[in-house]
Amino acid sequence: MTNENSQSPKPKKGLFVQSYGCQMNVYDSERMVDILAPLGYRPVENSEDADLVVLNTCHIREKATEKVYSEIGRIKQQKDAKGGDMMIAVAGCVAQAEGAQIMKRAPTVDLVVGPQAYHHLPELIARAARKSGEVLDTSFDAIDKFDALPIKRENTGYSAFLSVQEGCDKFCSFCVVPYTRGAEYSRPFDKVLDEAKALADNGVMEINLLGQNVNAYNGGDDIKKHGLGALIREISKLPNIKRIRYTTSHPCDMDEDLIMAHGEVEELMPYLHLPVQSGSDKVLKAMNRKHTAKSYLETLDKFRKVRPDIAFASDFIVGFPGESDEDFRETMQLVEEVNYSSAFSFKYSRRPGTPASGMMRQIAEDVKDARLYELQALLAKQQGEFNASSIGKNTKVLVTNKGKREGQVFGKSPFLQSVFVSGGEELVGKIIEIKVTGAGQQSIVGEPIGVFENA
Ligand code: SAH
Ligand code: SF4
Ligand code: F3S
Repeated sequence: MTNENSQSPKPKKGLFVQSYGCQMNVYDSERMVDILAPLGYRPVENSEDADLVVLNTCHIREKATEKVYSEIGRIKQQKDAKGGDMMIAVAGCVAQAEGAQIMKRAPTVDLVVGPQAYHHLPELIARAARKSGEVLDTSFDAIDKFDALPIKRENTGYSAFLSVQEGCDKFCSFCVVPYTRGAEYSRPFDKVLDEAKALADNGVMEINLLGQNVNAYNGGDDIKKHGLGALIREISKLPNIKRIRYTTSHPCDMDEDLIMAHGEVEELMPYLHLPVQSGSDKVLKAMNRKHTAKSYLETLDKFRKVRPDIAFASDFIVGFPGESDEDFRETMQLVEEVNYSSAFSFKYSRRPGTPASGMMRQIAEDVKDARLYELQALLAKQQGEFNASSIGKNTKVLVTNKGKREGQVFGKSPFLQSVFVSGGEELVGKIIEIKVTGAGQQSIVGEPIGVFENA
């Protein structure tokens, strides 16, 4: 029988994990910290102080991928300065897509691990320490991975991410995700609930349910008996949980139950990130999106019916192959029609191995630049107007951090606006009611009226 107390404590080792890309990568990075904690690894603030540096990478656009190599170069200098006494791991979607290529291009990298294999990190680190050859694991088994993750989370704060669904079977013609994350998979309903309970017990007040297509969540069975709506209803019953959000959804996976939940579940925030990508049906077809501009707008109307104050966000791609001026105008019209509270917009980036990268009529860079500029100006105007419309109103803010300035704290409104509130640190971890006194393009400011709910 082993006596836990008699075991010598593991020596402390510094761990630095850097996340790029989407929120799923942020979640994965947090889970890597959880997995490595029993080995004695503790997060450190600066990469120079780390024994292990993990770069959790993103492959979505060319720029994101290139950033990894410049970052490896920077970390290599730190490693060299320590006489090589540092391990460098490349994780995430670039690891999956480029695999052994990474170690060829950057031999300083000790190990490469894909997004579905990071639960093998302890074993991979041990192998890398033996320096007996290439250490690479890009195996795909999301089920194994989630089963291996500890229920205990190290550092969750007041607003936490929780991955419920991974992978994608949609194969939009521009996108690498189905190749880097693998097939669509939903975690079993009860396991997700267990993790939500553990978060609530840790003091988490807001849960952000994550998935590449989070509304395709089916509870781990194919008949979608327990979809995302059902999951949200269950999580809302957990005592500590005051706010629930989910991201990112696909227009084709919306179901009535989820829409109804927006009218019924008080904890479900009045905000929906539903990417449309383009307002032109011709472009949407070439993108293999399987929805039209009209069907997208009809979906938004259904949400407005059950929750009239709901705020919408989206992703856009400009300059997809074959996009004409007229197609781009249709995107601008759609934006005018919806009136978004915020949005992400990108120039189309050719990704190796995706169908769109081989399409004729690629769009010139200067045309993409001009379209992005015009679209972003409109989106910024809408965001600014949305923020300005809050002035004079009361809103509730979940305060998650101290502000940059003294006497100021930071949090989010129900509509996911960034909010700066006058007040001291004692407000962190509380939901407070504020009066909005000012607004900028990116954020709003306000004065507390009272503490609404306590942690
Ligand atoms: N699963 C989500 C988003 C995944 S990627 C969805 O289906 O909406 C996040 C965003 O990156 C996408 O919504 C898209 O706008 C953008 N994106 C993906 N591939 C891209 C590419 N090749 N070039 C430019 N933007 C891209
Ligand atoms: Fe990529 Fe499309 Fe899947 Fe979203 S739905 S992850 S854009 S392939
Ligand atoms: Fe990037 Fe992979 Fe997320 S490519 S956007 S980190 S799924």
